[in-house]
Formats: sequence, C-alpha cells, structure tokens
Amino acid sequence: MGIAFDKISQTWSLHTADTSYQMQIGPLGYLLHLYYGRRVEESTAYLHLPRDCGFSPNPYELQAERSWSLDTMPQEYSGSNCGDYRLSSIRVETADGISGADLRVKSWEICHGKYSLDGLPSSFAREDEAETLSVILQDEAASVEAELLYGVFPEHNVITRAVRITNCGSAPLYLEKAASACLDLPFGDWELLHFHGRHAMERQTERLPVGNTTLSIGSRRGASSHQHNPFLILCEPSATEDAGECYAAMLMHSGSFRMDVEKDQSGSVRLVAGIQDEGFRWKLEPGAQFVCPELILSYTHRGLTALSHDLHRFIRKHVCRGIYASGPRPVLLNTWEAAYFDFDEEKILRIARDAKDIGVELLVLDDGWFGRRDDDRTSLGDWKEDLRKLPGGLERLVDKLHAMGLQAGLWLEPEMVSEDSDLFRSHPDWALIMPGRKPSIGRSQLVLDMSRPEVIDYLSDLLSSLLRRSGIDYVKWDMNRNMTDLYSAELPPDRQGEIAHRYILGVYTLLDRLTREFPRVLFEGCAGGGGRFDAGMLAYCPQIWCSDNTDPIARLNIQYGTSFGYPPATMGAHVSASPNHQTGRTTPLGTRFCVALAGTFGYELDPGKLSRKEREAIQLQIRDYHRWQKLLAQGDYLRLTDDQSRFAAWENLSGDRSECLVSLVMRNAEANPRPLYLRLKGLDPKAVYILEEQQISSGSEYPGMKQRSFTGAALMYAGITLPALLGDYPSALLYFKRQERA
Ligand code: GLA
Repeated sequence: MGIAFDKISQTWSLHTADTSYQMQIGPLGYLLHLYYGRRVEESTAYLHLPRDCGFSPNPYELQAERSWSLDTMPQEYSGSNCGDYRLSSIRVETADGISGADLRVKSWEICHGKYSLDGLPSSFAREDEAETLSVILQDEAASVEAELLYGVFPEHNVITRAVRITNCGSAPLYLEKAASACLDLPFGDWELLHFHGRHAMERQTERLPVGNTTLSIGSRRGASSHQHNPFLILCEPSATEDAGECYAAMLMHSGSFRMDVEKDQSGSVRLVAGIQDEGFRWKLEPGAQFVCPELILSYTHRGLTALSHDLHRFIRKHVCRGIYASGPRPVLLNTWEAAYFDFDEEKILRIARDAKDIGVELLVLDDGWFGRRDDDRTSLGDWKEDLRKLPGGLERLVDKLHAMGLQAGLWLEPEMVSEDSDLFRSHPDWALIMPGRKPSIGRSQLVLDMSRPEVIDYLSDLLSSLLRRSGIDYVKWDMNRNMTDLYSAELPPDRQGEIAHRYILGVYTLLDRLTREFPRVLFEGCAGGGGRFDAGMLAYCPQIWCSDNTDPIARLNIQYGTSFGYPPATMGAHVSASPNHQTGRTTPLGTRFCVALAGTFGYELDPGKLSRKEREAIQLQIRDYHRWQKLLAQGDYLRLTDDQSRFAAWENLSGDRSECLVSLVMRNAEANPRPLYLRLKGLDPKAVYILEEQQISSGSEYPGMKQRSFTGAALMYAGITLPALLGDYPSALLYFKRQERA
C-alpha cells in the first residue's frame, strides 16, 4: 500500500496516488528529509550533496569530516542547540537546566490503518484506507523520545503528521517547544498563501514571496483565532488555480498555534508548525507523554483548485464525524438577528410558525434564553431557562417546536462565565484570573479555567442533563472572547505554562463526551463567527459559523478565503435581512440566497417582517436548496474568479460531472458595462450540457442566455457571456445538467 522501506538506501517512501514523501536514516542515525512532491518510485537520497559550509558545525563523531552538517541537511524533525541553527521543532530542558534536543532514530514500525491521538482530535480511517508509519527518535542524554507519526491516505493525497514526546528518564523534563512537524523543501522558490483577518472579516487571502527571512503566522489568543487561520499553502510563484506545485499544511488544532516559514542560507525553505511555544512550558514527569496536535499535509502539481479538492474530500470523509458528516443538514433559522435579546416564548413560537411556513426545518434559539440575560453583560454560566421569557422552560418550547414539525436548536457558550452570574459567585476560582490583579474582560465576560478537570466534569454533567431533558436537536457552541490572565488556581507554579494547552484539551474532552453521548445532535461551532474555524473543531462540529458578518458582498471574500482549505459543507452561511445589520448595505434577496448556498444554508432574520413576495421567493429558495443539496454538500467547489475580480463566480460540480451550478455576484454597479464573460471548469468536454435553469437578481429586465445546449468543451474553452447585470449587487445562478445519451 502506501508505505515502503528500502533497506539498502534506508529510505522510507510514503506514497499516495499522485505524491511521494521520502526520508532516510542518515549518518549517525539522524532522520533526514529527502523529498516531498510528485510521485517517484526510487530513493532521492542522491539529491542532497554533502558540502563544507562555513559556520555550519559538524557532529562531533564525524571529526575530520567537515562536509556534513545538521545546519545544511534537510531534517525531518529539527532538534535544537545541537548544530542546526534553523527553526527548531523541539526544545527540552532537563532538571539540571540543560536545554536542547539531539534526536536520532531508535526504531520504527509500519501499521495498517490510521493512528489516533490521546486527548486530541485526529483524522480517522478504516484499516484499508490508510497506513501509519511510526519512527521513534531518541535523545539519550536528555532521556527523551519523540515518536514521529505519519498517516498516509493514498486516495486523497494527504499525509498527516503528529508527535508523541515521552520522558524516558527518572527526573522531570520541561518541554519548551513541541511542534507537530517540520517540513524542509530544499529546492525551489515558494510563495506563502495565508488567511488572515479580524472579527467579522475572517480569512482574507495574502500571498507573499518567501524571501531570505522568516514568515510567521499564529495565535497567542488561546483560540486558533479570527486573525490567522492555522492553515497555509506554499506554492510556486507561477501557481494558479489550474496548474503549479502547491503544498497545504493545516493544523488540526483549535488553540494557540504557530506556523513559521524560513528560507535559510542554502535557499532551503523550512516550515515548522505546531502549538504556540510563547508562554508554553510543559512539565513531563518520568514516563509521561506529551502529544502534539496533528498536521494535515497535501501536495499537488495541479494547482490550487486540485489542492482544495483533496483537502475538501479528506475533511468530509476523514475529519468530520457522525451522521451529519455526509448526511443532509436541516435548513435552519437562527433567532439572533431576528430578535437579539428581546424575545419571549410567544415571540419565538411566532417566528417558528412563520419559519415553518416558508420551509425552514430547524429553529435555533440563540443567546438570551438563560439566567437574566437581557444583554451581553450577565449570566454566562447560569445555563437555566429564564422563566420570565420561557415560562414553560425549554421542555415546553422544544415540545411545541417539535409539534410544529420543526427541530429545535439552542445557543450555548459553555467556556465562559459572567462576573454577574451564580456560577462566578459560587466558584470565583474557576475563572482565569491572576492573584493580585484585575482580569481583563472581553464582551464583559471572563474565561472559565477549562484546564481544570472539575470544571469539565461540571459542564459535562450540566450540559448532558440539559440536552437530555430538553430534547434539543442542535447546539450552537459559541466562544466570544480570547484568553488572558493565564493563571490556574489548581496548577503548581512550574505548571502554569501548561494552561493554554490544557484549556483546549479540556474543550476537546467536553466536546468528545457530549458528541458521543448525543450522536443525533448536530453541533455547530462558533467563536464570534469564525474565530475558531479549524479542523480541530470540525472533528466535533461538522459545521462552523463562518463569520458574524452576514453581508453577502463581504461574505464573498470570507467564503473565498475559507474555501481554500475547508469544504462548503463546513461553512455556516445564512440569508439575513437587508439592509444588513453589520454593514448597512442593501442587497437583493436573490444575491443573499446565492451566497448562502455556498455554505450550510439557513436564515438569520425575522420571517414575520418579510413581504408576501419575499416569503414566496424564500419558499422557492428552500425548494431549490433541497434539489441541489447533495450537489452543494458533496460535490466539488471550484473558484472561477479571485478576491479582486470585477464579479465573484464559483461553481458547484457533482462528482460524476453531471450537474453544475454556477453562481455569479457583481461587486459593484457599472455604467456602460462590458459583458460578463466566464469560462467554466471541470466538465466533461465531450458531453452535452443543458442550461436547465437561470435565476437572475438584477435591477433591470434581464433577457437571459438564449442558447440552452452546449458541449462541455464550449463551456470550458470558449466560455459563456451574460449581458451585464445592472443595479445594486445583482447575481445569477445557472444550473447545467448533462444530457444523458439515449
Ligand atoms: C456571537 C455569535 C453570534 C451570536 C452572538 C450571541 O457573536 O457569533 O452569531 O450567537 O454571539 O451573543
């Protein structure tokens, strides 16, 4: 299958359908990286020529041999303080204050199936879908072992990596850095494509040349963050959507992280990715093990679209779990922008009736249902119904929703506590607060110390009984501020550097318990929108609210950036009211529909405020969503334009290329406009496609495309033209179906 070891050259080859990853046991047992790229069958050890490089030290054992240095040879997991001055992967301090890591191969093993990681989410596979290579490296002097894990998924061109670090000695050790992986690309020029942003404007793209410097993205916020996504692409400068070499690196981690890219004196580029080491210090008792989160790697020479497709399919099949991973998701209506904190049972039931009437399947009661929460200053932690608003409790509300034929969803923010709450009054030490200092507050709230097992047990009992008694079908799991004041009342002084990581382990434990106990409940992740949009959360929540920004025009670039790594089936996207509540922009209903279709489709408005015409239009939208649901959720997503283009366009294409939905949205109004010209992608060139439907939202009469039948070749090579769409933010949806031969 995927992993082979060549005894003569001492080389491992990890093969996927189109790629090979090679490493070798080099001199003195150092594990050298050889190659990662397009598939080759033989060892590429010949590539790495020893050379005497000034000021690059040589291992002591080699004595007169000056041509071999850890500083110039590509490494598989770089050590520290032992001759490689480039980015380190691991730093260990012994009880005597000796700091560094000098790791050499001790043993290795190949197994069927995919490894899993204690306490952390990781991708999964059947025995016949993946293979695992484990290579144990050891630093004898420091009595530490690092087990490098490689999961090989041939079908998806994905290789996952993770590390288990064990203290094999008799005295405690301190881990100061513990990256998940190091990847050396010894040859070639590369650009870094990464995804940055801010609250309500997540995952904007930036593409930078990797020059003679270090580029770094990361988070020190305790969450993967709005500001940087734990995902990057290294690609050739000439790489486009359709051609060129690209590498993807995606951390399956929801906490603070760091991904550094450094070009060294030899022109070799090193990526080191893992948890954030700033502020991190982990005590490893003798025999104890530290597990580093998984890194998902993928490579293609076929450009960015092919890279995204491999990642999308992999995430859908090997990261997202449970019945909703591939099953259809209900069309939901969320009450946040419909009512904010201002509601009672009667109003919710009125919204629910109106929602049911337009075809909604799941009513989600957002913030404000518990404690005395009339605004965002109070009550987090008091997860009991506010009987002023819900006199019959959640049970009665849920029963009534069920009786209407609706599923019931609920907003929760379990990781937080308000100062004004019974929970904080009874357990002030459960919040992250430093003795002698006032904590900083964010959205008037404090962060619960999720590193404490008793906090996790408390929340798991509480939430499990809440879900059991209420019969809730869906949970929106929110998290609305980042971590500060890292001090845990329960940890000794030499373990305070563990809090941020223990916090996220606590979150995972809690989510793991609840998703196992309630396999039929759909969990949607959220952190002020997309502040924790990562593969770690996707292991528990198959969909994540993409952004608090529901403006369809702003969403174009948010969803565009997100689509490089994550499939549409993971991106929460809703049609909201116009003018939009975040930007004040007015857009046509059809355009809001078109943009929300590119994610997990739903609504975020008061259906009672819609005109009759709008209600009828939405009934048709939901009918269309159901018709196209499989195509949207399980098909491929192809970007047809970029984030600077005059109009945004994308395509949803079924796996068998028989159905294709093209979406197009104008970013600006234009005078004397040129026609809109577009080339489709991915179709069968020889097949005939019928334009079965065109839905246009435009400020003017639109004549429509006259021709109905095209070959795939014509649609892809010659393209299509649409007459200009006038007015504010018009859009078009074109549905093509392949004509089946008689
Ligand atoms: C966050 C979420 C919103 C909404 C509010 C409620 O900002 O992202 O969708 O749930 O919290 O307070």
